[in-house]
Amino acid sequence: MITGAAGFLGYHLTFLLSDDYTVAGTFHEKMTSVVPVQLYKVDITDPESVESCVDIFKPDYLVHAAACADVDWCEKNPEEAMRVNRDGSAHVAEICVKHSIPLILISTDLVFDGKKGDYIEKDDPNPINLYGKSKLAGERRVLDISGDNIVFRVALLFGPDSPFKKGYIVGTMEKIRNGEKAYFFKDQYRTPLYTADVASAIDHVVQRKPSGGVYHLSGPDKLNRYEFGLKMQEAYGFKDEFLIPALMEDLPELMPRPKDVSLNHKKASSAFGFDPTDVEVALRSIIA
Ligand SMILES: NC(=O)c1ccc[n+]([C@@H]2O[C@H](COP(=O)([O-])OP(=O)(O)OC[C@H]3O[C@@H](n4cnc5c(N)ncnc54)[C@H](OP(=O)(O)O)[C@@H]3O)[C@@H](O)[C@H]2O)c1
Repeated sequence: MITGAAGFLGYHLTFLLSDDYTVAGTFHEKMTSVVPVQLYKVDITDPESVESCVDIFKPDYLVHAAACADVDWCEKNPEEAMRVNRDGSAHVAEICVKHSIPLILISTDLVFDGKKGDYIEKDDPNPINLYGKSKLAGERRVLDISGDNIVFRVALLFGPDSPFKKGYIVGTMEKIRNGEKAYFFKDQYRTPLYTADVASAIDHVVQRKPSGGVYHLSGPDKLNRYEFGLKMQEAYGFKDEFLIPALMEDLPELMPRPKDVSLNHKKASSAFGFDPTDVEVALRSIIA
């Protein structure tokens, strides 16, 4: 069972994993019939709605991808962000423990402050925005409820679009095709991760059952947004004039993002064979 199946990541997970597993998804307000699986309407802040679909579907695993995932929205709506990302995740974890269902919580690289980079699981988190704080609080509640639970801290995701969220690649390419400026920050480093690699990691966990705790999932390369833009330019062939280098201070209206939240994924590689796709290969596959 995958929560947030109409969201950007949840949609791709549901779609890809349904090749090999019988998958059910949960949706909240926006519903998609494009996902070829059974769907349940769930509000994770209401434990009864979570439990009723678990009672019916009886999943062997639950992947909790639903969240308030918009960094700027969370900053303006801190109580709601905490209610969903911290308390909602705790409700899901409590129901999973009660029904002996192993849980994988999807968390984020934004639990770190970006001062160090190449973060390993033992590094101390120190989120600089409300989104990161609410996701970290969710991680802690989920692991307190059961040490067997797994937390995937995933890096910046890229992939094809999904019914309700275009994602970074499609959103940026639409801007460029409309002749709008696309800014690529030179001072923001991430380890961009292809959405399909999260699906593979879940498959590996189901097959190999590693011990509970936090695992970092990141792409193989640490790149700033501009370097990522150069790879997009190579793949999509747009003109230089659309590749505009910028610094975060050039766009003060955006919430502060940490400078370097690159993640080190060695623990996931040795525990369950996580092997992320090269950015160039992933971009070619998205175009195909
Ligand atoms: N996108 C990234 O680059 C990235 C990077 C690192 C980590 N993550 C994590 O990956 C996960 C998925 O992110 P995403 O980008 O796919 O976000 P998304 O597209 O915004 O999807 C989130 C989903 O959660 C659902 N949701 C929100 N509130 C809910 C509630 N109260 N009850 C049940 N469902 C609710 C939303 O449904 P409605 O829209 O209908 O409310 C939406 O379908 C999140 O945990 C996020 O923190 C994402």
